[in-house]
Amino acid sequence: MADTPNIPDIQAQESMWIEIIRHMEFFYAQLAEAQAEAERRAEELGQAKALADNIIASISEGLIALDAAGRITLVNGAAERLLDYPHGELPGLSLESLVPEDSRPAWTWRALRRRLLRQSPLPDEETVWRDRRGREIPVGVSGAALQGERGEAAGAVLVLRDLRETRRLQAQLIQAAKMSSLGRLAAGVAHELNNPLGGILLYADLLMEDTAPDDPRRRNVVRIAEQAVRCRDIVRGLLDFGRPAEPRAARVDVNAVLRNAMSILEGQEMFHNVAVHWSLADPAPCLSGDAGLLGQAFTNIILNAVEALEGTGALTIGSEPGPDGQGALVTIADTGRGMPPQDREHLFEPFFTTKEKGTGLGLSITYGIIERHNGTVEVVSEVGRGTTFRVTLLSMSPEGDDADG
Ligand SMILES: Nc1ncnc2c1ncn2[C@@H]1O[C@H](COP(=O)(O)OP(=O)(O)OP(=O)(O)O)[C@@H](O)[C@H]1O
Ligand SMILES: [Mg+2]
Repeated sequence: MADTPNIPDIQAQESMWIEIIRHMEFFYAQLAEAQAEAERRAEELGQAKALADNIIASISEGLIALDAAGRITLVNGAAERLLDYPHGELPGLSLESLVPEDSRPAWTWRALRRRLLRQSPLPDEETVWRDRRGREIPVGVSGAALQGERGEAAGAVLVLRDLRETRRLQAQLIQAAKMSSLGRLAAGVAHELNNPLGGILLYADLLMEDTAPDDPRRRNVVRIAEQAVRCRDIVRGLLDFGRPAEPRAARVDVNAVLRNAMSILEGQEMFHNVAVHWSLADPAPCLSGDAGLLGQAFTNIILNAVEALEGTGALTIGSEPGPDGQGALVTIADTGRGMPPQDREHLFEPFFTTKEKGTGLGLSITYGIIERHNGTVEVVSEVGRGTTFRVTLLSMSPEGDDADG
């Protein structure tokens, strides 16, 4: 009988099992709850990361994170576009690989880390970086130090601002101010010269009348008159530059102006061996302007282009709608001699010429006309390769809008 379990023992065992199962159920419930919580946290974390990624991607400024050794760990799309790197190629590169020699002293990782130790965030600073192809890019850079969990230096984050457009507008403003004061000066001088020149021409004519056709001195008088006429043309050009002829605004078909200018020029001998390519927008870009003045502006650019071809080569004339569909963009490109940067700088100044018989007024007048149409002109040129003029035209300002009156 001794090994027959008695009733109270069985009951004790049973209640022990029940107790264990109850505990196990409790643990399982807690485990399931913890797992659900972990899953919820993971989802929240994923959402927060997606949100952060989204924010970083949609910032229009370039964003670059650097690790403690100055290597790039993270960039956004704006930084890739600004520095012209394909997606995923920036991480791993050093800060120095984005900075040209001249900007190095301040933008090595050592120098930057030292500055960030003294001051973080660093205020925006304008400098020059370089893109993947080595082209220099003006940028505004601000930065802040990144810290690890225990406050140790863990790298930095930099924000890059693209300054190319700002720089272009600044250059245009400087150019416009320079041209406007030169224009006033030129017009003033021209005005003063106009009267004595009229006198020279008048007296040369009188002298000619008094000189017999077979008089050997007559040739000299003719020379005086010819040179005086040339001076008068220069003075007229100068006056036009300073104070363009009273323009009349009407609806202008830009393609028609270009075709018309070419039809007048084409007959000249210098055009005979030039291949002319057209690429005109259809429908033609139209704007409110002065067709006569615009024709003169394009004629000057085309004549220069063909002169630069020195006999043979290609001339391309194109039109397209202007930015935002407003006005027009006219491109005149030649495969000619091109020009060095120092010539490019003075291109639109009155009397700047590299030609023996040039007056240097063609492009200064052209500049004034483009300005009257609220336009801009960009010139890209390479010696021995050719030159491209890109003229953007909007509409002519209403009368009286001119600062000079
Ligand atoms: N397409 C071009 N290719 C190369 N150089 C150019 C071109 N267009 C202009 N230039 C340079 O710019 C200078 C100034 O041009 P601009 O038309 O004002 O005067 P010019 O042609 O010398 O004289 P003008 O027009 O009075 O006969 C030229 O002498 C030339 O050196
Ligand atoms: Mg010219």
